[in-house]
Amino acid sequence: KKTKESLKIVSQERIGKDIYSMWLQADHMAAEAKPGQFLSLYTRDGSKLLPRPISICEIDRENGRIRLVYRVTGKNTGTEAFSRLHAGVPVEVLGPLGNGFPLHEAEGKRVFLMGGGIGIPPMLQTAKELKGTKTAILGYRDELFLNDEFQAYADVCVATEDGSTGTKGNVMDAIRENALEADVIFACGPTPMLRAIKAYAEEKNIPCWISMEERMACGVGACLACVCKSKEIDSHSHVHNKRICKDGPVFLSTEVEL
Ligand code: FAD
Ligand code: FES
Repeated sequence: KKTKESLKIVSQERIGKDIYSMWLQADHMAAEAKPGQFLSLYTRDGSKLLPRPISICEIDRENGRIRLVYRVTGKNTGTEAFSRLHAGVPVEVLGPLGNGFPLHEAEGKRVFLMGGGIGIPPMLQTAKELKGTKTAILGYRDELFLNDEFQAYADVCVATEDGSTGTKGNVMDAIRENALEADVIFACGPTPMLRAIKAYAEEKNIPCWISMEERMACGVGACLACVCKSKEIDSHSHVHNKRICKDGPVFLSTEVEL
């Protein structure tokens, strides 16, 4: 069972419009954490009881630190409260939670690391740890963030909706425009993007793991607020629903309905 820990903020920096990067001193969690897992952060506001799930963007195991990159979703939100916190301040955190990406499935293969918007951060640590031929395909609305940091670990392809950088369109357009090919896909992003990637992987007959960002409440498998339909059927012909927080957030694309 996971228990809440109080972690100190090492640094906090604005890296784009409404996008923040926060390093936490997280000795135990950093030792345990895997790419694709997430932390759940509590606000200090008593009226906001539920913790906010944020993917692990980077793990610095040597210094026992974890980096989160998150978007402030609006005024008076929990994420806005996080963005106001300074270095040295403690935050209550639960984690690491969820299953993470199965890196061994891509070892030595050609792999697409696909991220859309705020689904991009978890692909960075994935890119760092994965041993294979990596192409990061990153989709943005307009302004870029984190893309430079992928260069050290992967070939990088960018798509923007407004066409200001790279391919005009989405990550699927970037694959087509650059005639890219892969044997395995790892992806994280909004549901329409994941749906398109799932269809592409089925058409190409390649395995694809997707990290699903859904609304969560408890984050530890107890409340069932986050269930999604799965294709798994038990011996009594019952469809097994999956909890995104506990059974995921990473699933084999053929196992879940989107
Ligand atoms: P509020 O409106 O104050 O939130 C109200 C409640 O709704 C809170 O309990 C909040 O947690 C929940 N909620 C609202 N939107 C979402 C959402 N999209 N997903 C889950 N819960 C939501 N965002 C990032 O910016 N960076 C990340 O790396 C990241 N990783 C995520 C990983 C996972 C596994 C999941 C499930 C979500 C992730 N998100 C990430 C989305 C992030 O959790 C929401 O944007 C955030 O919870 C919104 O909280 P708020 O305080 O800004 O909004
Ligand atoms: Fe409570 Fe997943 S958020 S079971």
